[in-house]
Amino acid sequence: MNRLKQQIAAKLEAYFANPALSAASIPDCFDTPPDPAMGDLALACFKLSKILRKSPMAIAEELKKLFSEELPDGIASVVNAGGYLNFFVSDSFRVLLLREMLEAGENYGSSDLGKGKTMVIDYSSPNIAKRFHIGHLGTTIIGNSIKLIHRFCGFDTVGINYLGDWGTQYGKLVISFKKWGSEEAVRKEGIEELNRLYVLFGTEAEKDPSLNDQARHEFSLLESGDPENIRLWKLFKEISLREYMKTYELLGVSFDSFNGESFYSDKMPAVVEELKEKNLLKLDDGASLVDLEAYHMPPCLILKRDGSSLYPTRDIAAALWRKKEYAFDKCVYVTSAGQSLHFAQWFKVVELMGRDWADQLVHVPYGTFSINGEKIASRTGNVVLLDDLFREAVEKAGAIIEEKNPNLENKDEVAKDVGIGAVIFNSLLANRIKDVNFNWAEALNFEGNTGPYAQYTYARACSILNKSEQIPCPEKAALCEEEKQLISTLALFPDRVVRSLNEYEPSIITRFSLDLCQSFNRFYNACPIRSAEGEEKALRLSLCRAVKNVLGTSLHLIGLRTPEKI
Ligand code: ARG
Repeated sequence: MNRLKQQIAAKLEAYFANPALSAASIPDCFDTPPDPAMGDLALACFKLSKILRKSPMAIAEELKKLFSEELPDGIASVVNAGGYLNFFVSDSFRVLLLREMLEAGENYGSSDLGKGKTMVIDYSSPNIAKRFHIGHLGTTIIGNSIKLIHRFCGFDTVGINYLGDWGTQYGKLVISFKKWGSEEAVRKEGIEELNRLYVLFGTEAEKDPSLNDQARHEFSLLESGDPENIRLWKLFKEISLREYMKTYELLGVSFDSFNGESFYSDKMPAVVEELKEKNLLKLDDGASLVDLEAYHMPPCLILKRDGSSLYPTRDIAAALWRKKEYAFDKCVYVTSAGQSLHFAQWFKVVELMGRDWADQLVHVPYGTFSINGEKIASRTGNVVLLDDLFREAVEKAGAIIEEKNPNLENKDEVAKDVGIGAVIFNSLLANRIKDVNFNWAEALNFEGNTGPYAQYTYARACSILNKSEQIPCPEKAALCEEEKQLISTLALFPDRVVRSLNEYEPSIITRFSLDLCQSFNRFYNACPIRSAEGEEKALRLSLCRAVKNVLGTSLHLIGLRTPEKI
């Protein structure tokens, strides 16, 4: 479609000969009509109105005459639809598009937008010693998808799991462990035991607040390199990571670096020094902060009264280090919207420190997750553990598969792909900033807007292809309405990829995959394939091949697996 836009733009530039209307700016005036029956491409004439000082209606009418006299290549007809000039592409152009898609294969929709550029992405990043709960799901799967989309667009990507492995809470854990725990129990029970110790500290400290001072002391020992505390902290980290890796494996999520907060503990003093030198630090009741009143934000805390560092201090040190290490063109942070202020504050501090790349730091916030309408509050203990959520998803998917297709080979593997896929798909369906609710019946409905529906459609395309011979795509064909629409939908893919990249919005791909499934299923119901012959059969099989490719790519971009049989 881009080619058509450029061709039409060139013709308009020559026709208007108006310096304010260049062939380069005109493509922005195009839209996709809401319903393919209205056309394939729409020129929104109101966007030209100001420059041309004419009404959109008059412009559309004038251009309709112009284009009808000599239709551009690939265009079959032009209509004026209330100030929009709608173009219908020709069948031969559609077939050409289809042939090009098939030729590009798995690369269709990819680009070199990010060629030579590096994007660093900080996602998942749990606080160790805590079990993975549903609150970590968003950052993990949104971050993973954003990373994959960038890679597909040619970026070099660096996925960082910025483990929360530093701070006074580790002093609490050390105290609790020394008082009420044992290495044996931690090794045996794993993260469950660490969690128990952490919670126990909370209840005990309520009775005896002096425990908090002891915890601070233990943390300062850790900070100054006390061998025993370091040994324990390493143990806690190892045990936690072991548990997290299982979840990552299940989700198919991976990282290039696990440099967590502790990695920056020796890199913070330099930050504090620089802030001092640049006169950015203010003392406030013994604590050090950067005043951000001029930017309508509360101050950014840098050091506590006892001199220990804080979350923003570590983030600043990490950003400076990452810039040096990776020379990134952008550094993206995926967290819940609750942390938006934190990021806005320290991004500002980096800017005030005179780093002209501060605008390459991007915060990508998302909404909250709930299950059957219930919010997840970690403090009240009302947490849904990811393990449990996945177990339930896989079990439920397994039961449905057992009923639908009892003879399926490797049922367990497929149940895993479908169950996990249902969770991911449901989480990436709405704009990320919206709250996600989990409703099992909805998320697993094979006929709804779900992962299983999309995976099932993919498997249908595979099964058609597996049962038929390989016939090359014809050069030309007469197309029926469903075939036309299917090609139009497939043709939207490259544009959707770019939009999801620019907006850090995986849901654009998720929703595209649903549109594609719908278009394909409409085609499948209306156009017999096996009984078709000659050119018609060749075209229909080619459409199945294109759907398999494009649907497969879109599902992979949001982190789903695509079994060929379900
Ligand atoms: N560990 C933090 C948490 O669980 C998230 C870290 C996000 N990344 C960052 N660079 N601050 O809330």
